Amino acid sequence: MTKVSPSLLAADFLHLDREIEMINRSEADWLHLDVMDGSFVPNISFGFPVLEAVASMCKKPLDVHYMIVGPERYIKQTAKLGAMMMNVHYEACTHLHRTIQEIHDAGMKAGVTLNPALPVSLLEDIICDVDMVLLMSVNPGFGGQKFIENTLKKARQLRQLINVQGSKALIEVDGGVQEHTAPRLVEAGVDVLVAGSHVFKSPTPEQTIHDLKML
Ligand code: DX5
Ligand code: ZN
Repeated sequence: MTKVSPSLLAADFLHLDREIEMINRSEADWLHLDVMDGSFVPNISFGFPVLEAVASMCKKPLDVHYMIVGPERYIKQTAKLGAMMMNVHYEACTHLHRTIQEIHDAGMKAGVTLNPALPVSLLEDIICDVDMVLLMSVNPGFGGQKFIENTLKKARQLRQLINVQGSKALIEVDGGVQEHTAPRLVEAGVDVLVAGSHVFKSPTPEQTIHDLKML
């Protein structure tokens, strides 16, 4: 069954407690948390004080997506939160293999994220070491953007790479996931759908999560 990881970026920040209660009640598999530093991406979201508050209340595993320069600086702090998955961007890490090892040593699963312009072939020598590949289907930094169609081709290429190498990595897609794009992504071999505005701006978010899971 498709996994769903709603992105808190689109939540009502004045009422995060209500939003997390909704996530806890829902069939969401994980909660996706977008950390931005205003340097790797042209926006700033939230940092550890917010992550800690969310972690204290959220019953779902945390899928943390770092859009920051040098994410290896925060591995220990992320593990301390109890995060399940730490996603780092390919070009944000000077020593990606070492960073993946350090994430594992800290007791978390490791995800590597590719921006829309980066080819899947960059992962040939790391695909068996990662637990997940996060394909960005928008340019990172903002919610509510238009889905980039080329992501479907990349998802198929990535599925092929994973199969050929016998990797156990999951494929997650992030950005512009909604009712028109989600079924095509699942058909292309995607395992985990991140959805921000589609879930949190929905009048019936729990039903929206259920519908994504049924794909
Ligand atoms: C964008 C973030 C996404 C964002 C997706 O930089 O990584 O997780 O919340 O938002 P939607 O689903 O609204 O495109
Ligand atoms: Zn994200």
